[in-house]
Amino acid sequence: MMHNCLVVCYSRSGHTAKVGREFADLCGADFEAIDDLDSRSGPLGYLRSLYESLFHKEPRISTSGKDPGEYALVVLGTPVWAGNMAAPMRSYLARHRLRFHRVALFCTMGGRGGEHTLAEMADLCGKTPMARVAITDAEIRRGSYRGKLERLQNNALESS
Ligand SMILES: Cc1cc2nc3c(=O)[nH]c(=O)nc-3n(C[C@H](O)[C@H](O)[C@H](O)COP(=O)(O)O)c2cc1C
Repeated sequence: MMHNCLVVCYSRSGHTAKVGREFADLCGADFEAIDDLDSRSGPLGYLRSLYESLFHKEPRISTSGKDPGEYALVVLGTPVWAGNMAAPMRSYLARHRLRFHRVALFCTMGGRGGEHTLAEMADLCGKTPMARVAITDAEIRRGSYRGKLERLQNNALESS
């Protein structure tokens, strides 16, 4: 059976997951977390994350195994790392991108690199996203990103 919407997020420090879960609640969507198999904590974890994103590495990940091919729409969320998508999101796309039907994209960031990140995700998916939204850490702190989530919902779900 085809489901309506799956939200798939990678999140190292919780921002992307918070926004993604809220979006899933808003839409009644299922949620899938991309987990690291190798820890990214501490300064070494931070440096490895920078390195892997800069050099387009595909680190080891795990998920609960939901099949994105069973969903009419897949919403993909990642933090921006070094002006790119987080490396674990690249691993997820490499593994699953051929299964996607329609996609919508969002990223969280300190403030720079959102456009490039979302463009590269769209490229890798090989599709024009229904919607794309970049949310800053300041907006997350202030809780002022609801308008963006509603825009994402309207653009991504209007024709489903
Ligand atoms: C390794 C690393 C690289 C980052 N690079 C950028 C960057 O290039 N531009 C930016 O605006 N924020 C950057 N950030 C900040 C994160 O994108 C931002 O804090 C995001 O909300 C974190 O999401 P998360 O809590 O879901 O992991 C970086 C964070 C990390 C850990």
